[in-house]
Amino acid sequence: MTDDDLLDAARKVRDQAHCPYSGFSVGAALIDENGNLHVGCNVENAAYSNVSCAEAGAISAMVSSGGTRIVTIAVAGGSKGEKSRACTPCGGCRQRIHEFSDAKTRVIVKDDDETWHSYTMAELLPSSFHL
Ligand code: THU
Repeated sequence: MTDDDLLDAARKVRDQAHCPYSGFSVGAALIDENGNLHVGCNVENAAYSNVSCAEAGAISAMVSSGGTRIVTIAVAGGSKGEKSRACTPCGGCRQRIHEFSDAKTRVIVKDDDETWHSYTMAELLPSSFHL
């Protein structure tokens, strides 16, 4: 699966987002160490603090099927119904991704003008928390 295929998967699942409160839909698609694809979208709740981010959904699907490492994760987000824009993971999701990352893990997003950005977790979460 190419990076473009992975971003397409993130954009596709973004359409499933349940985001009536923020109006901001997010899709995440990841490839694990077994080459398997897992996707997730954000799921909001009337009790606002119960929001589940797209990345959390994709990671949960990966763990549920036995995956342990994220090779590449693509994230696409933006106002619902509008074109996706570069949507780097929020702070909490950076820590979530970090849990299942190694030095080679890539986080990829695309700008409005379709310019690629690829990050390592060391770039997104320097001096990260470890037990
Ligand atoms: N959101 C995600 O799904 N992932 C992120 O990394 C950033 C934020 C969601 C949460 C909420 O439903 C909406 O985007 C606006 O914050």
